[in-house]
Amino acid sequence: MMRSLTGLALLLPILGGSTAAQDAPRSTSWRGDDWPVQTSPTPRDDAMEASLAGIVAGMTLEQKIGQMTQPDIRYVTPDEVRTHYIGSVLNGGGAWPGMRKDAALADWTALSDAYYRASMSTDMKVQVPVIWGTDAVHGHGNVAGATLFPHNIGLGAARDPGLVERIGRATAKQVRATGISWVFAPTLAVGENRRWGRTYESYSSDPAIVASYGAAMVRGLQGGLKGDGDVVATAKHYLGDGGTFQGVDQGENRASRKHMIQVQAAGYYPALDAGVQTVMATYNSWKDVAASKDYGKIHGNRELLTDVLKGRLGFDGFVVSDWNGIEQVPGCSKAHCPQAINAGIDMVMVPEDWKAFIANTVADVREGRIAMARIDDAVTRILRVKLRSGLFERNPAATAWAARPEALDDRALAREAVRKSVVLLKNGGALPLAPDKRVLVVGASADSLSNQTGGWSLTWQGTENGNADFRGGTTLLAALRKALGEANVTYSPDGSNVDVTRFDRVVAVIGETPYAEYHGDIRFPRPVAHSQLRPSDRAVIDAVAGKGVPVVTILYSGRPAYANDLINRSDAFVAAFLPGTEADGLADVLLKRGHDFTGRLSFAWPGSACSTGEAPGDIVQFPRGYGLSYGKAKRTVRLPEPAAPAACR
Ligand code: BGC
Ligand code: BGC
Repeated sequence: MMRSLTGLALLLPILGGSTAAQDAPRSTSWRGDDWPVQTSPTPRDDAMEASLAGIVAGMTLEQKIGQMTQPDIRYVTPDEVRTHYIGSVLNGGGAWPGMRKDAALADWTALSDAYYRASMSTDMKVQVPVIWGTDAVHGHGNVAGATLFPHNIGLGAARDPGLVERIGRATAKQVRATGISWVFAPTLAVGENRRWGRTYESYSSDPAIVASYGAAMVRGLQGGLKGDGDVVATAKHYLGDGGTFQGVDQGENRASRKHMIQVQAAGYYPALDAGVQTVMATYNSWKDVAASKDYGKIHGNRELLTDVLKGRLGFDGFVVSDWNGIEQVPGCSKAHCPQAINAGIDMVMVPEDWKAFIANTVADVREGRIAMARIDDAVTRILRVKLRSGLFERNPAATAWAARPEALDDRALAREAVRKSVVLLKNGGALPLAPDKRVLVVGASADSLSNQTGGWSLTWQGTENGNADFRGGTTLLAALRKALGEANVTYSPDGSNVDVTRFDRVVAVIGETPYAEYHGDIRFPRPVAHSQLRPSDRAVIDAVAGKGVPVVTILYSGRPAYANDLINRSDAFVAAFLPGTEADGLADVLLKRGHDFTGRLSFAWPGSACSTGEAPGDIVQFPRGYGLSYGKAKRTVRLPEPAAPAACR
């Protein structure tokens, strides 16, 4: 199906610009009008269920609520984990042991060990190990020295679920090296509007790609669930995060029920089938405008969290809320939200105000706002995942990969992923680069691991990092110097004060600067034109183009960009997305070192500054599935350059 879609896309009159209405229909994996009926892939284990029931029956209310509470490591000590029976901790983006960005693996495992031992020395009848969760969304992003893979948007272009599964295995091992056993990935968003700041966390706007990748990532991360190289995975953010109105992060999804079921939710069915053990609720709300039905914030919606997810879809793991997500439910605060627990949230990510949360929730149960049966169900689910994943059997800080630096090193795999994920949009013969030629490299992104890795890299936003912070990473500039020879490469960040005509080729590396979540939103009515958003990138191209020397442009971006002006001023153009730490993979294809370009767009590429997705009427320059190879014709056509207006309408 996907294959024929790709073929079809190539026949479209893409160079003149087409509209999405002409685009090939979406391929979806579930075509039913209602939620599918699924069962857990893990058969019920009566002996385990009996022991779970025994443990829960022996717990006090405070112990149960403690199990449902997840503070951030910045705000909870090991001793507090012990005294408050804390069930889980997380390190949010940019949280490291001792708040040191360069924390060593031994620091990570020492902290993990301290939390674990604290959780195992409470006055509970049965000691319950704490589970630590982390955002390893493109490799273990919080850890200095970990190889970082391309963000999901690039992996989507690789069209290779097997690669994604191997990245999942590698990521699990990296995470295990820090003594952590739970990862908040994969993101199963189907990104529908490129204004959204999390577009790069989405594999594709094609639900079929999200569906096959989501399951592959779950298999890769979880493996057999109990092994030393396995971690618990999270399907997030349930439900509809990728389809909010105007791409507003944490905004309102206005999809019809059918669209939600067939498109936005497409990744969940196979991920649940693959045995994903946790699901994270999403910040957004859902209003089915066509049916005049308002589901409100998903964190407070019982129909979706309980009836659909735990009922029809057969999910028997636990649901975790997002970072302070409960406070957005009407009537709730960061530290109090019986509505969310009653709706089906089992564990509450309450990074800072966890003490008040515990007190408030204990009172909720005592005063009848939450039934004890709901609490018992939540705790049973949490303990079930802990039992299944082997946490009761061994200290996660003392497993095979713990504190082993080689576990962070997946350079060859990341290089392969980069090679497969970059998409050649234009080549009039400027590529491949030849090793004996003189190359002028321009653009600040050429020497920036920060722009190359994007958000969720060492820090939450991916900002405040220098190249040295990414131990062992390779910029494209460094990769080109290695590949072409130091003497053949000259670097000028802004392309000024250099005689371009002395060179055989110019390689311009431009791109967005890092962002995460709502920080990356481009709010309506702002046009989404790269040159307008980053005039310095256009200036660098203008400084080198039109001088008789072919210009090869590489664009780093977390979203498809309207860049026709930049493409027209370049002789070859590569959409490289956010490739991560290993730019050698880019050099491999730029030089055609035994590898051709095989990446194909996983999102349509816009042909105007106000076309924000693949909705009817949007102008598509390159449809999903587009991508050139060296083998293909080199004819280039001047693209239309509709000017970006001051504001979109
Ligand atoms: C994000 C989640 C993430 C969590 C923990 C939230 O703001 O939406 O994707 O897992 O923070 O860092
Ligand atoms: C955390 C992130 C989290 C974000 C949400 C940050 O302080 O480090 O992990 O996603 O807050 O607002």
